[in-house]
Amino acid sequence: MTTIGILGAGQAGSTLARVAIAAGYDVVIANSRGPETLKGLVSDLGPRARAAYAADAAAAADFAVTAFRYTPDDNLPVEELAGKVVIDNNNYMVWRDGNYAEVDSGLKTIHELRQERLPTSKVVKAFTHIQFHERFLIRVPSDTLPAVSRLARPAGAPDRKALVVSSNYPEAVELVTRFYDDLGFDAVDNSPLSESWRSAPGTPMWRLHVDGQSREDLIRNLQRAQRIIL
Ligand SMILES: NC(=O)c1ccc[n+]([C@@H]2O[C@H](COP(=O)([O-])OP(=O)(O)OC[C@H]3O[C@@H](n4cnc5c(N)ncnc54)[C@H](OP(=O)(O)O)[C@@H]3O)[C@@H](O)[C@H]2O)c1
Repeated sequence: MTTIGILGAGQAGSTLARVAIAAGYDVVIANSRGPETLKGLVSDLGPRARAAYAADAAAAADFAVTAFRYTPDDNLPVEELAGKVVIDNNNYMVWRDGNYAEVDSGLKTIHELRQERLPTSKVVKAFTHIQFHERFLIRVPSDTLPAVSRLARPAGAPDRKALVVSSNYPEAVELVTRFYDDLGFDAVDNSPLSESWRSAPGTPMWRLHVDGQSREDLIRNLQRAQRIIL
């Protein structure tokens, strides 16, 4: 059984926990406070989930997810995450996150900064451009599902969508490719992390995140991205 340590129990972390459990994973989930604040969520998620402090969730994980915005003072459990694949699903939004000069100037991507925060882990950008909430405009009943459920399809389905993955570590790309497949998505490898600006907010592929895109469209949209320098 594979256990995912999900650090971040907000909209993204809790919804990812739900779909991962449905796909057969076990989940240990944490927020920035403590497990006692997650009792309701964990009882909702069922017996394959438990809550823990972030360091304990990281220690228990076969692989982990950081489902919260980037900050340099994030108190990440570096030692407990050492040697592990860490999925970073953070989007850099200046209005929310403030400015990081190295990212704004195009010197680095936000995910390279997270890799620097976790020098002994294998950081991989994934799940940044799939919504973990319902559509803003509800037209049909399925619009009430988060896109990560609404757009999921079995392997080989003609309307299966693809999600992007970027890492400096091929084994991290392979792990996420399998995880995407288990959740109902194809993968497009856009490595290394220095190239992950191609899937940043505002890029052509990112603008299609509400309804998703096929593998071919995603490859094309990544290629036609232009770097946004602030
Ligand atoms: N929501 C989406 O549809 C979506 C889609 C794609 C990507 N994302 C990305 O996912 C990230 C999270 O978004 P969200 O909408 O889920 O935000 P959110 O609802 O505000 O949740 C953030 C969660 O992270 C926790 N947290 C913060 N710092 C932490 C730390 N150091 N260790 C452990 N947990 C920590 C918070 O815990 P406390 O409440 O205890 O502070 C909270 O549970 C963002 O970077 C966003 O860009 C979101």
